[in-house]
Parts: sequence; structure tokens; C-alpha cells
Amino acid sequence: MRVLGIESSCDETGAAVYDDKLGLLSNALYSQIAMHAEYGGVVPELASRDHIKKALPLIRKAMEDSGSTPADIDAVAYTAGPGLVGALMVGAAVARSLAYAWNRPAVPVNHMEGHLLAPMLEERKPEFPFLALLVSGGHTMIIQVAAPGSYRILGQSVDDAAGEAFDKTAKLLGIPYPGGPLLSRLAEQGVSGRFRFPRPMADSPNLDFSFSGLKTHAANTIREAENSEQVRADIARAFEEAVTDILAIKVRKALRQTHYKRLVVAGGVSANRGIRQGLADLMTELGGEVFYPRTEFCTDNGAMIAYAGMFRFNKGVRADLSVEVRPRWPLDTLEQNNG
Ligand code: KG4
Ligand code: ZN
Repeated sequence: MRVLGIESSCDETGAAVYDDKLGLLSNALYSQIAMHAEYGGVVPELASRDHIKKALPLIRKAMEDSGSTPADIDAVAYTAGPGLVGALMVGAAVARSLAYAWNRPAVPVNHMEGHLLAPMLEERKPEFPFLALLVSGGHTMIIQVAAPGSYRILGQSVDDAAGEAFDKTAKLLGIPYPGGPLLSRLAEQGVSGRFRFPRPMADSPNLDFSFSGLKTHAANTIREAENSEQVRADIARAFEEAVTDILAIKVRKALRQTHYKRLVVAGGVSANRGIRQGLADLMTELGGEVFYPRTEFCTDNGAMIAYAGMFRFNKGVRADLSVEVRPRWPLDTLEQNNG
């Protein structure tokens, strides 16, 4: 079985071909970062228009790189949500039309399930059950994954997502969009312990997160501190350490609660080296194991959509002939609506 996967939920256009016997055969990606950088953030209308320009050439490339003709493709999977409605509509319309023209089923995929399953594209992959920490630009969630497709949200952010906190704090530090990766590079030059950020909700018994206080703390710190490159790096370092700590505190609680020994960390923020290291240290301490996607599969990509598409295709999920997207689509509603 072979699935073409199409991603267009935000500012990356992705197309990939996954074969259940041969693995990932191709993965083409186009990032709109340079275009949005000029505006300091994603401009939804520009994102949609750019997906229109890039989708077909990328799909063609993914098909060619994989050595596939349309006859080899068993299903066309696409990100149906959550994400920006216009951006999603582009991928959905292209996927639905190709599937129709090729006389194959179209398979709607939840973007967050794509992130969650991305580590399955690696040689060293987790067995079930596991705990998943999803940290992206729009979500921060701890999910109990008892079996494939079974998702129970144990905790999530009550305000900003972790990636959002990175991007907003980066902006305050004068770092251009997209702030997360650049802030993390700056943090590597920073000295630990020069500043200290709070750990919001660390002591609360539940597994929810709150990150919006960090950006306020960052704003106050920046206002009062000396404006030098080293000080900015020290602040970035303190911020990143606070995020790492908060994630580790909640993961530790969730592991204790579930008695799970395996942790999956995925989503854009899981590309962060400090966070990867912090959670790896935690799992070593607890005698458990941690699984990450390779860095390029942490952020948005078509490969994870092709993989999740194969999973849902095998479960019998099919889109009807209409082009529909779900800008909001909670992960824990998947099984009943979609399995
Ligand atoms: O998963 P993703 O590509 O898109 C969403 O589904 O949201 O995540 C994007 C988020 C952005 O907030 C970006 O700043 C953050 O992930 N990010 C990082 C790093 N790389 C991407 N944050 C911290 N450190 C990084 N290295
Ligand atoms: Zn994403």
C-alpha cells in the first residue's frame, strides 16, 4: 500500500509518499518562513495563496522522487485540521481533486496525530503504550496513548502554547520570526543562572500548563536589564530552562500517574536541543526511554501526514466527495468520529 500525504495547515507546504512495506519513499517541503518574516508572523491570506502556488509542483516532486505513478498510489491523505482555514482548504481541495481524478480514496488526517506519530518514521520507534508530549506553535498537550489511535488528553496549556511562548519571547528579544529556533540558538550562548523565570503551575496537582506568564516575565526582565547581546542570550537561556523544567515537571507527574515508561516528544518545539536534553535526562533518571522524530520531522512536514494517512486508511477512514476542513479538531475526538 502506498499513500501520498499533503500538508498545508500553516506556513509549510509538504508532500510525501509512504509505502507500508518500503517505508518513506519521498518527502518534499517548502517553507514560507522568508515570506512571513517581513510581517513578523504568519499572514493567513498570504499563506493560502502560497500553498496554491507550491502544492502541485511539490506533489509532482514527491511523486517523482518516490518513483511512483498515480496508479501506484492507493490513497491521498491530507491535513484536514487543526490549522488555518484557508491554508487547510488548499491542501484539502488539491488532495480531494487528485483522489477523485485518480479514482482513489481521500483520507483526512489530524495534524496533531501526524506530529504524534512522526517518531514512527524512525528506525528506533516506541512500542505502545506511551506518553506523548506534543509541543507545537498552537498546542501543548500530554497524551496517554494506550494503543494506536487511542488518545486521552491528560493535560494541556490553559493559555499560550509552548511554541507561541517561544515566538512571543523571541519577539520581545528583538529576534525576527520565526522566533523559536533563533531564540534557542541565542540561548546556547547564554549563561545559566544569570536570570530566573517562574515555573507557572508547577505545583498544581493537574497536568495542565500555563506559558503566558513567561512572556510577561520576559518583558519585565528585558525592560530592567542592560541591553547587550550577552544579557539577551542569558535571558533566552533562562526562558528556555524554565520551559524545559515545566515540561519535565508535568511529564514526571504524568508518568507517575500512568506508570508508563516510554515518552514520545513531538511537534515543532521538540526540535529544541535544550528541551530534548532535559527530557532525555529525566527519562534516564526514571529508567525509561524517550523517542523523538528527527529534527526535520519535528516541524510541519508531509511525511508525518503520509504516515498518519496510512494508519487511518487502514482503519477505513474515507472522506466523502466534499472538500471539508476542521480548523479546530481535538485529538481526543478522533476515534469516535473517524475510526
Ligand atoms: O509543529 P510546528 O512546525 O507547527 C505547528 O503545528 O504549530 O511548530 C512550530 C513551532 C513554532 O512556534 C516554532 O517557533 C517552534 O515550533 N520551534 C521551536 C524550535 N523549532 C521550532 N521552538 C523552540 N526551539 C526550536 N528549536
Ligand atoms: Zn505542526
